[in-house]
Amino acid sequence: MDRRTKYCGEVGVEDIGKQVTLHGWVNSIRDHGGLIFIDLRDREGAVQTVIDPVKQPDIFKLAESVRGEYVLEIAGKVSRRPEGTENPNLPTGQVEVHIEKLDILNTSQTPPFAIQDGINTDEMVRLKYRYLDLRRPEMQRRLMLRHRVVKMMRDFMDERGFIEVETPILIKSTPEGARDYLVPARLYPGNFYALPQSPQQLKQLLMVAGIDRYFQIAKCFRDEDPRADRQPEFTQLDVEMSFVKKEDVFEVIEPLLTRIVEELSDKKVMFKPFPRLTYQEVIDRFGIDKPDLRFGMELWNITDIGNASEFKVFQSAPQVKGITAEGCASYSRSQIDELTDFAKKYGAKGLATIALMEDGSIKSPIAKFLKEDEIKAIIERAGAKTGDLLLIVADKPKIVADSLANLRNEMGKRLGLRDDSIMALAWVIDFPLFEWKEEEGRWDAAHHPFTMPMEEDLHLMDTDPGSVRSEAYDLVCNGSELASGSIRIHRRDIQNKVFKLMNYEEEEIQARFGHMLDAFEYGAPPHGGIAPGIDRLVTLLTDDDNIRQVMAFPKTASGIDPMTNAPSTVDDKQLKELHIKIVEE
Ligand code: AMO
Ligand code: AMP
Repeated sequence: MDRRTKYCGEVGVEDIGKQVTLHGWVNSIRDHGGLIFIDLRDREGAVQTVIDPVKQPDIFKLAESVRGEYVLEIAGKVSRRPEGTENPNLPTGQVEVHIEKLDILNTSQTPPFAIQDGINTDEMVRLKYRYLDLRRPEMQRRLMLRHRVVKMMRDFMDERGFIEVETPILIKSTPEGARDYLVPARLYPGNFYALPQSPQQLKQLLMVAGIDRYFQIAKCFRDEDPRADRQPEFTQLDVEMSFVKKEDVFEVIEPLLTRIVEELSDKKVMFKPFPRLTYQEVIDRFGIDKPDLRFGMELWNITDIGNASEFKVFQSAPQVKGITAEGCASYSRSQIDELTDFAKKYGAKGLATIALMEDGSIKSPIAKFLKEDEIKAIIERAGAKTGDLLLIVADKPKIVADSLANLRNEMGKRLGLRDDSIMALAWVIDFPLFEWKEEEGRWDAAHHPFTMPMEEDLHLMDTDPGSVRSEAYDLVCNGSELASGSIRIHRRDIQNKVFKLMNYEEEEIQARFGHMLDAFEYGAPPHGGIAPGIDRLVTLLTDDDNIRQVMAFPKTASGIDPMTNAPSTVDDKQLKELHIKIVEE
């Protein structure tokens, strides 16, 4: 085989008159008035090649057997395309290659879908033939972007003195909130390794080891149901630092993400520096801890007005809040019913509406239950004007928050307020340390059990654990949680207290966390860290609505790989070696 001179997609006017050798796949083959045109494609793009039957009768004959996706080596001379035949849509559109040598390196069956952008083939088929799907230019661009993101992360972290350390994939089962994937230990019947849900404990142990600044492009495994933004295995930029406060962590992550967005995409970072919003503030203003800050439509609170009214639903509700959908007063009855059903999916029992009609009147199914000045007060609180529609939910705070947050996102989408060219990155801080597990009747770590409580809330640990805030933080962007982290507990007494509140028995603590607690007895430095999810970040950069689009070989929403058919059964012999018996239920 001859050496390739260039990628197909890189042949340009600067090559005119030169001989080139190209390797690629047949994008298309056309017979035009005697000439055969083959568009040859590789990862960088496609170039038009031509065979003239008069000048190259043998090659012409061979070319007649060529089909789509055949693998070719061609050699020839680059020429300017005849006037009027240029293709301004192609980077190589000014030139064509006149073939002087043609080798068919391999044939191909007709692919199950076209190898081109914008196909609407069923995703199962795309995943079954992922190697063909990935051959499509838009998927190649995604993989290349992902590569550049990861490379920029590595370069940046290296510049800042971070050391990449690999941590094992076979570890001891450690809780990160999800279910572990377990691996049976052949040599120890009945014992299991777990795949890491994240390298959380190991990176903390690396701090005890004096590494000071660690990072890793780390694979994480969590046995949960996949969703649009969740896969059973995914990748984090895992980071840990010694002797830091949260601002020191922000000062690393903020410029890194800004650089990634500004240098690797056409998007703008909306706020610089990233705002720091407290958990309580975002819940109050947006109803959710990962608000989409690209648009306003903030929640307003009319509990006082509602409770004081005669309208039973509002009078008795622990909370009454709403949002203002600008310009939606003309929504029809069926559109409102649809929004009501939408709100009900999140637990709301109903959705009260007040429309400020163009003629100055008010249209509202609850107007008859309220006094005129109450309606006026609500409209004023909402900051609404003629043409707006108020959407109100009365319920327990959690239901009010959930339903209004989702309504807000939905209305933001419908009203075109979610500008894809903007990345609204922001920090959410001061999360609660604990959340109450109703079924288990105990407190659980909201982030993970090694998260430091806020110094000024330590005194509440005994009296009011639910209101203790933590040194945990999230980085959110456009309604998605991009990263999560915290300053960790490095003091034994605080750690013990946290475990106690979580109702862990001493024995259990020793069995699960003994190694961590032992390590912390040997001079653990104060430390903290964070882990941005790389798949989610790239999904935002590519405007995809599904994380699978930016992973080479993802699992389906039901957790299978249609290409290899994993998961699959294994031989009895394998099971026997592992001392495992399958019990049919
Ligand atoms: P956390 O569990 O919040 O924190 O994860 C951090 C980030 O990882 C991404 N992520 C996921 N991406 C795709 N699929 C999933 N199933 C998935 N789960 C999480 C998200 C998320 O923000 N050890 C801690 C970090 C720390 O405290 O330093 C951790 O893993 O972008
Ligand atoms: P009803 O009295 O049940 O007919 O309700 C009157 C109006 O109040 C309807 O528009 C309902 O959708 C609305 N509504 C009922 N329950 C709630 C609630 N919990 N929050 C907000 N609006 C409600």
